[in-house]
Amino acid sequence: MSYSKVAAIAHHVPQRVFTNKDMEALVETNDEWIRSRTGIHQRHIAAPGETTSDLAAAAASKVLEQSGVKALDIDLIVLATITPDYFCMPSTACEIQRKIGARNAVAFDINAACTGFIYALNVADAMIKANSYRKVLVIGAETMSYITDWTDRSTCVLFSDGAGAALLVPSEEPGLHTSLIRSDGNFGDMLMTPRMGFENPMRPRSRGGDIGFIQMRGNELFKVAVKNMAEVLHQAMDQSEFTPDDIALVIPHQANIRIIEAVAKRFGLSMDKVMLTVDHYGNNSAATIPIAWSEALDTQRVKPGDTIALTAFGGGLTWGSAIITI
Ligand code: ACO
Repeated sequence: MSYSKVAAIAHHVPQRVFTNKDMEALVETNDEWIRSRTGIHQRHIAAPGETTSDLAAAAASKVLEQSGVKALDIDLIVLATITPDYFCMPSTACEIQRKIGARNAVAFDINAACTGFIYALNVADAMIKANSYRKVLVIGAETMSYITDWTDRSTCVLFSDGAGAALLVPSEEPGLHTSLIRSDGNFGDMLMTPRMGFENPMRPRSRGGDIGFIQMRGNELFKVAVKNMAEVLHQAMDQSEFTPDDIALVIPHQANIRIIEAVAKRFGLSMDKVMLTVDHYGNNSAATIPIAWSEALDTQRVKPGDTIALTAFGGGLTWGSAIITI
């Protein structure tokens, strides 16, 4: 088999909904500011104790049910996350393996922030093409609420929790046509969680200060995100056999409606062809793309056989794009 394709995709978000009105009780903000600057109306936030692997395992279980594949037949789990259950080990992918009972799988995490799901697809595709694995769970899952400073109005209104999981399998026909991943560590401090979260007398505090929560230079990020998401989407399209007219739906990372609109404008794309979930889910980092893809199928925005384009940008900095027939 020379290709991989996504055979099933599903998502899971925590039950608790936190609206912009609820946010007004936490920080000095208002619904109008949040909607007009970000497009977000509400977001789902994990319950106390609910972890990234809980959300991911729930999404993965839905994929197994949808596809009729048994957990014991899964041979690889690739999880994209920046909010692992444990700081160092075990990996959150191993936790998912345990929770869904995928005893025969190999499991590992990838950290590429909001581009994580495209990175995970790229890696899983290469491992399938190398004939190593045949039934792969590719997951993007986050509990951004754990690394959010709920007293900082410039960041806490943006982030949220959720998970999306896809089953990637070998295929005679191309599913994943092109996937491009990029990074530039020179601008890591534009979006970071500076501290490791514990004190160690043998080591000075890590660069960037004293805070274990997200710190972000929003204005600068906005511009780089638009430029890089549009550019890498162009490059992925150029490397595939498709033109923009062949694309049924573009599924961008859901950080901010204004970033998405600016990317569409640069790409010469009508917003009818762009999937939006940022209004009801906010930005759950590596989970936004698989959640939006799953919802696009659930709401018949796309159907099997359609070709879609993904594009994302996140901390690292990282960015990437993929062209996929579903
Ligand atoms: N409610 C009310 N006022 C606020 C809030 C808030 N939640 N947050 C900031 N403000 C105030 C600021 O204090 C500032 O007030 P001042 O003029 O008195 O100083 C004013 O609003 C304007 O602040 P800006 O930061 O200039 O607002 P901007 O229009 O740039 O919007 C935003 C901020 C939404 C963060 C924007 O820069 C953005 O979307 N950047 C992209 C960042 C992003 O999405 N990051 C996610 C991770 S990266 C990724 O996923 C692609």
